[in-house]
Amino acid sequence: MRDFILASVLTASALFARHADAVAANPLPKPANITWGDSGCFSFAAVTLEAPHHEVLQDAFDRVTKTITKLKWIPAATEAPVRAFDPFPTPTGAASKRKHRRQYGSGNCTASITKVKIHIANTHAELQHNVDESYELQVAPGTDFIDISAQTVYGALHALTTLQQIVINDGSGRLIIEQPVSIKDKPLYPVRGVMIDTGRNYISKSKILEQIDGMSLSKLNVLHWHLVDSQSWPVEIAAYPDMTEDAYSPNEVFSQDTLKEIVSYAAARGVRIIPEIDMPGHASSGWKQIDESILTCTDSWWSNDVWAAHTAVEPNPGQLDILNNKTYEVTAKVYKEMTSIFPDNWFHIGGDELFLNCNNFSSLAVEFFKSGKSMGDLYQYWVDRAIPNFRAQANKTFVMWEDVKLSTAVAATGEVPKNIVLQAWNNGLTHISNLTAQGYRVIVSSSDFVYLDCGFGGWVSNDPRYNLQINPNATDGSPNFNWGGGGGSWCAPYKTWQRIYDYDFTFNLTDTQKGLIQGAIAPLWSEQVDDVVISQKMWPRAAALAELVWSGNRDANGKKRTTELTQRILNFREYLVANGVGASPLMPKRGGKSRAQQPDQESANPSWVNIVDGKVESSLAAANKKNVGGEVQQTTDKTLIESRKSVHVCRLRFLDLGRIITPFTVGPPASLRQGDINTVTDIESQRPIDITTQSFCLGTENVASEALPAPAPSPRSESSLVSANIGGGMP
Ligand SMILES: *[C@@H]1O[C@H](CO)[C@@H](O)[C@H](O)[C@H]1NC(C)=O
Ligand SMILES: *[C@@H]1O[C@H](CO)[C@@H](O)[C@H](O)[C@H]1NC(C)=O
Ligand SMILES: *[C@@H]1O[C@H](CO)[C@@H](O)[C@H](O)[C@H]1NC(C)=O
Ligand SMILES: *[C@@H]1O[C@H](CO)[C@@H](O)[C@H](O)[C@H]1NC(C)=O
Ligand SMILES: *[C@@H]1O[C@H](CO)[C@@H](O)[C@H](O)[C@H]1NC(C)=O
Ligand SMILES: *[C@@H]1O[C@H](CO)[C@@H](O)[C@H](O)[C@H]1NC(C)=O
Ligand SMILES: *[C@@H]1O[C@H](CO)[C@@H](O)[C@H](O)[C@H]1NC(C)=O
Ligand SMILES: *[C@@H]1O[C@H](CO)[C@@H](O)[C@H](O)[C@H]1NC(C)=O
Repeated sequence: MRDFILASVLTASALFARHADAVAANPLPKPANITWGDSGCFSFAAVTLEAPHHEVLQDAFDRVTKTITKLKWIPAATEAPVRAFDPFPTPTGAASKRKHRRQYGSGNCTASITKVKIHIANTHAELQHNVDESYELQVAPGTDFIDISAQTVYGALHALTTLQQIVINDGSGRLIIEQPVSIKDKPLYPVRGVMIDTGRNYISKSKILEQIDGMSLSKLNVLHWHLVDSQSWPVEIAAYPDMTEDAYSPNEVFSQDTLKEIVSYAAARGVRIIPEIDMPGHASSGWKQIDESILTCTDSWWSNDVWAAHTAVEPNPGQLDILNNKTYEVTAKVYKEMTSIFPDNWFHIGGDELFLNCNNFSSLAVEFFKSGKSMGDLYQYWVDRAIPNFRAQANKTFVMWEDVKLSTAVAATGEVPKNIVLQAWNNGLTHISNLTAQGYRVIVSSSDFVYLDCGFGGWVSNDPRYNLQINPNATDGSPNFNWGGGGGSWCAPYKTWQRIYDYDFTFNLTDTQKGLIQGAIAPLWSEQVDDVVISQKMWPRAAALAELVWSGNRDANGKKRTTELTQRILNFREYLVANGVGASPLMPKRGGKSRAQQPDQESANPSWVNIVDGKVESSLAAANKKNVGGEVQQTTDKTLIESRKSVHVCRLRFLDLGRIITPFTVGPPASLRQGDINTVTDIESQRPIDITTQSFCLGTENVASEALPAPAPSPRSESSLVSANIGGGMP
């Protein structure tokens, strides 16, 4: 179930491939299994619901049918075959200058749909982790109804969302559905979500509901809500009413009634809300209204340029004082109140980016360090005391950021309970692999792939590095901070929908590890986000993630289907906008597909090359002549080689669209390790070449004998080694 390749359907593909040209409807996420026949269309006008009584279901039916009739959707981009062009056109007179006539349906409809029948096996299932979301939807020849069956109401909601996207306008204002159609669908992962942050900037209720609308349309089911942060506390807490003194204004507060309203709006659309109160780091606003003594380093000087002196990853600093007894009394009360408002069985308690320096402001912590203990020991103290303390209030599944295990500087030094779900955000595949190898359940939020806030430059204002008028640095020729590069965005570049969709986050995991992946959540941190821009930064990129975690990024043959997604996501963007979700445009409505005329990269028949002692090994590469002959720069660092065994023997797989790339270098050499993913640089253009390394740097002996594995899911990423944790980042 969790394997991308299995997600697509072999049997259906032939039929679909033939008929996709004719069927303009193209729902996103693509169902795991959709089979269109070609018996023409049924018209779709007044339909009634025949279903077990359930308020959520009735509401959804009303919403969906209303939307269908109101929008009378005309697909904005259909899956017609991409035109072929000669590499360089030769004039051929009048050739192929046909006028294009729009057609959305297959002709006059033979019958009408009058009913939607829904069968649900268990109408009592609650919207909680692992609720069954599968459904089947059929329109059989000769019938007059849509036949939906699902295990739970939440599966049926997805069926209705699909239905909403496959009933379309025939071009003359009549609503039609092509038939017969048979859909058998279920998600790959139980956690499919986005994260919003209402602590850095306030996001209003109506904009949050807008995100939930987009989520339900794309079958995302988890809204991870980072409610508060050191900068502001917009959440009403009855036990401590003063906390909202630290909201940005009295208008920028979520009353508990508003929170409940948002929770039920989401639940009616199959969206769980996992609330996050980030503790003990990222804490200042709100808490300081209760008692400043439970905080340390609040509003201390945030040194932008001297990293060693930092007390926090970003201004304003502040952490809960881990050794103050009152911290536990206060956090327990806040937690308890939040659990009464958010019914989800999962609760996020944060845990990211603790800073040693911040604790130097606490006399208790200074004593602790004097006794020879470390920041990691202090973090462990928090884990050992806070978790049982929370559990005693309300027993939930806790989610924490990966830092508690994997922060280089502060990871807790002892046991972290295995029933805590860890959210991986640094170092891409390496951390996912590490955490699952240790037996933790993992939510994928790799900043290199799915952070939606990256690439908008820096936001700290008093940064002299922007005040440079020339480039490069006249003294040493190095590129200046605000030329090229990230311009201050710690996780630049902007993550495009293509990058998100292409992320193979289970790459090289064992089945046991794969089974521990709960899904993925794309965070949109809001230092530079508020009501005005949230939807355009969120959408339609979140929809690329939605399909990735619903039915995967590969077709029935296991090949990447990013090109195929293009039409679907272009249509979906327009559909979002039509439904009131302010999604960003992705490309000119016509055009933008010059590369899409190429097959997706993996269909270019990847070739294998062995690299031994810095040379491409020509014997094995005989079948791949075009890639042979390059010099590979490798580390000559003896200690490194000895400590890591045979770093000098590597094998690369090229996915270069057949372009000849020689010579090339492998980099960054000093950090090569077994299992690393690396970029290769084309020496001539100095550009990274899109490759993947597999079974990277095997031992000398087994390179020759080991059978080459079949092309496997393979990340086409830049090195995830270099970006992690350097200079810190957020959350
Ligand atoms: C997909 O649907 C077709 C037609 O109903 C069926 O033959 C096939 O077994 C289905 N595949 C899966 C994986 O459900
Ligand atoms: C639909 O029916 C009309 C009226 O009978 C006819 O003129 C038209 O050609 C038909 N269209 C198709 C595509 O069959
Ligand atoms: C904090 O609580 C612990 C037990 O929970 C107690 O032993 C200790 O004395 C308390 N510390 C202070 C400063 O009150
Ligand atoms: C904070 O305290 C630790 C441990 O005593 C020390 O190593 C570190 O240098 C201190 N940080 C600063 C900025 O003084
Ligand atoms: C919390 O729930 C889990 C799972 O049901 C259970 O194993 C554990 O004992 C509970 N812990 C407490 C403190 O009630
Ligand atoms: C995970 O990473 C930590 C810190 O780098 C390391 O000590 C540990 O060995 C790794 N574990 C696995 C299973 O990769
Ligand atoms: C330019 O490079 C020199 C030498 O590396 C360095 O000392 C200086 O700080 C750099 N200037 C800027 C503005 O980065
Ligand atoms: C894949 O996993 C195996 C087994 O854990 C490991 O030996 C190998 O180095 C990994 N390869 C990559 C490219 O991660």
